Parts: sequence; C-alpha cells; structure tokens
Amino acid sequence: MSKQTHAFQAEVAQLLHLVTHSLYSNQEIFLRELISNASDACDKLRFEALNNNALYEDAPELQVRLSFDKNAKTLTITDNGIGMTAQEAIDHLGTIAKSGTKDFMSKLSGDQKADAQLIGQFGVGFYSGFIVADKITVETRRAGAKPEDGVRWISGGTGDFEVETITRAERGTSVTLHLREDALEYANTWKLKEIVGKYSDHISLPILMEKEEWKDGELIDPKDESGKPSTRPALCGPAPRKTSPTSSTPTSTNRSAATLKPR
Ligand SMILES: Nc1ncnc2c1ncn2[C@@H]1O[C@H](COP(=O)(O)OP(=O)(O)O)[C@@H](O)[C@H]1O
Ligand SMILES: [Mg+2]
Repeated sequence: MSKQTHAFQAEVAQLLHLVTHSLYSNQEIFLRELISNASDACDKLRFEALNNNALYEDAPELQVRLSFDKNAKTLTITDNGIGMTAQEAIDHLGTIAKSGTKDFMSKLSGDQKADAQLIGQFGVGFYSGFIVADKITVETRRAGAKPEDGVRWISGGTGDFEVETITRAERGTSVTLHLREDALEYANTWKLKEIVGKYSDHISLPILMEKEEWKDGELIDPKDESGKPSTRPALCGPAPRKTSPTSSTPTSTNRSAATLKPR
C-alpha cells in the first residue's frame, strides 16, 4: 500500500486538542499510557498464542524497550507484542477505541486544573503522546504477518495521519515520539527511570533501557558500534555513579545499564 492520508475521527481531533492543552502540568503521564499499551499488546499476543504458538516467531521473551536519540530528539517505546495490521492501525489510532471517552469528555468542566487532574486519572491513551511530541511515528507488524506487511503510521497530531506499508522484521510496535522543544528532558535515562518507577511499577513485563555510555568525555551512541540499539537485561540496582562528561579521567565509564523493571 502506498502512502494514504486519513482524517482523524472528529472526537479524536477534539480529544487531541484537550489533551495537548490541558496536560502541560502533568506531561509525564504519556509514558504510563504508552507502556500500558505495550503491556496490553503483549497480553494479547500471549492470549492469541495459546492457540497458535507460532505467533511467538523467534522471540518468546515479551518485553518493552525504551530508547532515545538526543540528536534526533526522539524517544521510542518498543514492544514485541501483537502488533497491528494496516487496517487496525487506521481503526485504532484514528478513532477513539475506549468506550466511555465521549461521555468523559462531555463531563469536563473547562477548568484547566480540575480537568487536567481528571484527564490524568481517566487515562487518555495513545493520543497522550502528543503532549510531549509534535509528531509521532508508529511502526508495527502484526504477529504472524509477513515482514513486508509492516505498517508505518505518522501524524502531527492535528487533523490527519498517514499510513503506508513498510518491511519490518520484528513483530510488534515501535512508537517514536518526536519531542517538542519543551519536552527534551524525556530523552534521558534517569528521567525515564523515575517516571517508570512512579507510574509503571505494576507492569509485569521487563522494561529495558538502551544504555548510554561515556568514553573519554564523549557520549557514545550505542547504535554506532553494533549497528543496532543495545539493551541490557540487568536488574534495576542502585543508580550507577554519574560521571561528568568533562571529567579528566581518561577511562570509559558505563553511565547506565538499566532494566527499569525486572520481570
Ligand atoms: N503498542 C501497541 N500495540 C498494539 N496495539 C496498540 C498499541 N498501542 C495502541 N494500540 C491500539 O490502539 C488502541 C488505542 O489505544 P489507547 O488510545 O491507549 O486506548 P486503550 O488502550 O484504552 O484501548 C488500543 O486499544 C490498541 O488496539
Ligand atoms: Mg491504552
């Protein structure tokens, strides 16, 4: 399928506006929502795989990975759960899936502070990514589908979104947030670790984090050496010593090796 543009359902456009305008003081809940979706996707895979073990393909370990790229100003939440077909991406990321959302929206008072509290408690789902991102790219492939049947969904969170077919080897979904200038703090290991600890402690999946390394005062991009992001399934222990990048010590220092949430 070549690139197609679809309009958001009217209620989604309304919700998007609400979410991005009411939640400045409660920005960080976006991560709770996206990790919760990743976790749901893994639960769905587990359930479907009861009758079709082949859906695990060559990756039976279900997990969530967080990675970021400071230069590109992106944060990516990846799961190897059920994934989505193109039609599912169009339906689920273009309309409001959650029953009760419309009712809920009609109950909002217009008082920014009270509404923000309510919205935060209710759970605004996928669209909360737009609190911190001015563009979201989702790449996904449904478990059991061919690599050529992957899907890329892109939106700036206003009126519409684009969908096209891609080749994607891994099953599951990557949600890449192109961070707004006032949200660059989320491209940071410690910030992510703090938020995961605060909101996603109940998640039973391992949540892995790309490691960030300093060497001779330079930040090493973990993608440079291996060609793909590295994650390390180490247990979440005491925070590794933080070494200043301007430190005169010439040795390399592993700045973070985090599994935010062990299984
Ligand atoms: N990581 C993901 N993997 C698979 N499907 C997803 C993922 N994230 C979102 N979705 C789909 O998009 C829908 C909407 O997500 P969301 O707005 O969070 O609402 P909810 O989780 O309450 O259904 C989900 O129900 C699911 O079908
Ligand atoms: Mg959700």
